[in-house]
Amino acid sequence: MPGSNPIGVRLATISHYLPKRILSNADLEKMMDTSDDWIVQRTGVHRRHMCAEDESVRTMSLCVLKDLLRESGLPPEELDLLILATVGSSMACPSTACQMLCDLAEDPEFGPTNAGAFDMTAACSGFVYGVNLAHGLIRSGQCRNVAVIGTEHLTKMVEYSTRGRGTAILFGDGSGGALLRATDDPSKGLLAQSMHSDGTRWRDLFIPRSECDFPDGVANDDLPMGIMRMNGRAVFKFAVGTFGDLIAETLEKAGLSADDVDHYICHQSNIRILEAARDRFGIPPEKMPINIDRVGNTSAASVPILLSEQTKSGLIKEGDRVMMVAFGAGLTWTSSLWQL
Ligand code: COA
Repeated sequence: MPGSNPIGVRLATISHYLPKRILSNADLEKMMDTSDDWIVQRTGVHRRHMCAEDESVRTMSLCVLKDLLRESGLPPEELDLLILATVGSSMACPSTACQMLCDLAEDPEFGPTNAGAFDMTAACSGFVYGVNLAHGLIRSGQCRNVAVIGTEHLTKMVEYSTRGRGTAILFGDGSGGALLRATDDPSKGLLAQSMHSDGTRWRDLFIPRSECDFPDGVANDDLPMGIMRMNGRAVFKFAVGTFGDLIAETLEKAGLSADDVDHYICHQSNIRILEAARDRFGIPPEKMPINIDRVGNTSAASVPILLSEQTKSGLIKEGDRVMMVAFGAGLTWTSSLWQL
């Protein structure tokens, strides 16, 4: 793809936000019938972050957006588009993205912008879907500066009791994002990407709002509405195969081998799923970093939080090749292979 169009795309600035409050496995042991050993062995999670009362998808995302603008020096009026990937928009309308731009306009440090803004629901695949869309808009000359943010407040979509233990142990809160910018260097940008879904598998992971949302033949259980339902075993099996196939597909599209990629930034869903992908391609651990132990599964925020941590610590550098990989509810799965 690079070279076919004179406009290159940079992942110019990357940032993340994690709430200060920590929820450890020891905390969970007090709320439900589970154990630190069980959680660590099955998932790799030791602790996760949890929003305080005054934190939300909107506040966490705004924090990241402000960081992106501050660090890049981009004036808000030059932002063309804000894409917020989340399953936690507080209202059906307006979008949380529009509310964030209101907050930005009312902050004297930033000011108003007429950037396009929308929320996108692709669950854990949301940020990577958004990055692929943003890249296309910039490469084709439609936009020059696009912010893509993935944020989740999943601790309010699980139940901290024994009946909710199948999901409560996995998920945490957080936000991460990237500012994608046009550059005159056409070698920078996507080498390959893929976006997939299998809608027939939606029943494996959903968050119902009412009785009508339950699939035919599946009775409501005793969990409240708004709490995640997940067939963990089915999602696990799907993910173990799909993760590896997705990496293979993306390498093939780019004409590269697994060794040619410097960093695999993968959705932190479960350590066993990540290890299976690592083993299949013989990827050394330093090329496939893991933070699920400290952060848990943060869905749409998972890839950008890890990308931000690795970039800020200097491990990901200009000139590197980075593959982002994610899968989630829908079921959806997606990749984005970058020449930085
Ligand atoms: N603590 C202790 N025991 C638990 C438990 C918990 N938190 N959660 C479930 N169990 C029990 C079950 O009741 C079951 O007991 P039983 O055999 O007596 O019926 C047993 O442990 C095994 O349950 P199962 O659901 O088969 O466990 P698992 O090995 O599949 O692990 C997950 C559960 C959720 C960790 C695992 O399925 C998983 O990670 N799936 C993928 C989920 C995912 O990635 N989702 C996000 C997509 S983005």
